[in-house]
Amino acid sequence: MAIYDRIGGGYATTRRADPRIGRHLAEALAGARRVVNVGAGTGSYEPEGTAQVVAVEPSAVMRAQRRTGAAPCVEAVAADLPFADGSFDAAMAVLTVHHWPDPLAGLDELRRVARRQVILTFDPGAHLGLWLVHDYLPEMLELAGSNPPTPTAIADHLGGGSVREVPIPADCFDGFLWAYWRRPSAYLDPDVQASISGIAQLPAALVAERMVRLAADLDAGRWRERNQDLLDRDEVDGGFRLVVCGD
Ligand SMILES: C[S@@+](CC[C@H](N)C(=O)[O-])C[C@H]1O[C@@H](n2cnc3c(N)ncnc32)[C@H](O)[C@@H]1O
Repeated sequence: MAIYDRIGGGYATTRRADPRIGRHLAEALAGARRVVNVGAGTGSYEPEGTAQVVAVEPSAVMRAQRRTGAAPCVEAVAADLPFADGSFDAAMAVLTVHHWPDPLAGLDELRRVARRQVILTFDPGAHLGLWLVHDYLPEMLELAGSNPPTPTAIADHLGGGSVREVPIPADCFDGFLWAYWRRPSAYLDPDVQASISGIAQLPAALVAERMVRLAADLDAGRWRERNQDLLDRDEVDGGFRLVVCGD
């Protein structure tokens, strides 16, 4: 069963494209007329009006949440794309490479079907340095997907390209792991927990116990004390990187 068939039920409600992140992707996709979005999920960050888009998504639960009028979506996986060589100007892959069982095979496929590859991914070291992981849920470090190829390794594998930081705003709209780095009480919300794959894959009882501890730390002011350095920041480096390779 595709992992998101199990954990992706409420994705469309908490995971919405954040325009500040979307700008980086739009710039990287500029000029591309035919775009394939691999691991497309519900369609966040897909170009609208500027390109003809085909989405690829293995999970039926995710495909079912695509909005009416979204780009057509094919059931397939990154490592075996059902397209001829060079079918697209650009292939995009947003926050999905870490879920691929064979990331390098998937990257080879992006390169085979498209002249440009635009990948939003994360540097595992920085990404898993979030206080939520090291202070409350270190078990996330052991999950499949916690150690994908680094952005530099991805660029190297694709023949070289640029790797740029994508900072995460303090009021990020896209509810991924880092979205609430300065809004700690959000992580107590079961809907938020369910839409972060690293939390959704952990045993529910363990998450509940650790969130009781987070709530107590928030009440007692301990979280604030420990995370003073974050409080006056408007954006942060959560390890998110945009890799752009090809033409
Ligand atoms: C965190 S979601 C990202 C979805 C979307 N790109 C976004 O930014 O909202 C990860 C997606 O990768 C998909 N996925 C998992 N394994 C995959 C694979 N082997 N090939 C392609 N997509 C995969 C999941 O089904 C899920 O929709």
